[in-house]
Amino acid sequence: MLKYFDYISIVGTGFYVPDRIMTNFDLEKVVDTTDDWIRTRTGITERRIVKDSEATSDLAIKAGAIALKKAGITSKEIDLLIIATQSPDYPLPSTACVTQHRLGLTNAVCFDISAACSGSIYALIVAASLMKTCNYNTAMIIGTDVLSKSVDWSDRNTCVLFGDGAGAMVLKMNIKGRNLLSFDWGTDGSGVDLLKIPAGGSRSPILSSNLNQRQQYLKMDGKKVYKQATKMMYHSVIRALNHAKLQKSDIDFIIPHQANKRIIEAIAKKLALADDKVMINIENYGNTSAASIPIALDEAISQGKIKDGDIVVLTAFGAGLTWGSIVIKW
Ligand code: ACO
Repeated sequence: MLKYFDYISIVGTGFYVPDRIMTNFDLEKVVDTTDDWIRTRTGITERRIVKDSEATSDLAIKAGAIALKKAGITSKEIDLLIIATQSPDYPLPSTACVTQHRLGLTNAVCFDISAACSGSIYALIVAASLMKTCNYNTAMIIGTDVLSKSVDWSDRNTCVLFGDGAGAMVLKMNIKGRNLLSFDWGTDGSGVDLLKIPAGGSRSPILSSNLNQRQQYLKMDGKKVYKQATKMMYHSVIRALNHAKLQKSDIDFIIPHQANKRIIEAIAKKLALADDKVMINIENYGNTSAASIPIALDEAISQGKIKDGDIVVLTAFGAGLTWGSIVIKW
């Protein structure tokens, strides 16, 4: 299997989150929870929530426009757009088609992928593969999710965890620096029931009987997901490093999926990484699903946490179960 993408560079990043802030104290008025429980069990202090009128593509367009600007390219130069989302604008057509039109990416072929919180890692790997095989020069991937419209606001086990947002990356062929060195990804479909939205698809369509049982909302076995996430992200990072002939001591900076601060800290401990080598911004945004990694990458860059030549690792885990890691030489 192809595991090397050193011809691909990340030449621009951008993110957008809605203006509306929902703090843990606001949530205390919605469900039986406390700011203290949420902060100590998850690391989250606040999250951003869309307006009723806002949809997933609205966030994607804003993040994409920022990434284009930072990359210094025009919308017409994008050959490929992949959107990673669990919360598309519509079941049909794809959110990528909506975004392409509104962002003016008239020369791009576009589609969505569904890999939950691992979506942006999957999108990067798929984009890099297609750039090689289809000879595309420039691609954009956007991780974007509005899970606030898929969580059950009466279920304290899940509604406190998620936030809305979008993050974008522009990729180019044959530029020196910020190169993807290697990757690892995987899937374990035996974990389908650990984290899912039961209704809204062909198994359980949107019928009043399903809606009455609140089957349109996200359900999660948090404990089992927690254990799998910690294990799988660690092993995936090690495999991706091996493919690049690197070791954990070579990591200069890691950007893990922001699902739970305790999961991030457990992985950092296993990798023997000091705090200043680990990106954590979950306190401000919660778990933004597919948007989490591109948001964290863009923030890490703008906060000067990544230097030229650094070995940077992205790693994620999500429903499916899915996971993936990418090693970048910045
Ligand atoms: N406020 C107060 N108490 C709560 C809350 C809350 N919001 N939620 C749960 N509790 C209670 C539980 O009811 C339980 O009470 P009990 O002991 O009386 O039954 C107690 O707190 C402990 O609950 P646990 O589930 O054991 O809490 P845990 O420490 O496991 O933390 C959490 C729960 C935060 C969900 C954690 O398991 C987790 O982060 N899991 C992983 C989530 C994840 O990684 N998702 C990634 C993929 S997301 C995607 O792909 C879209």
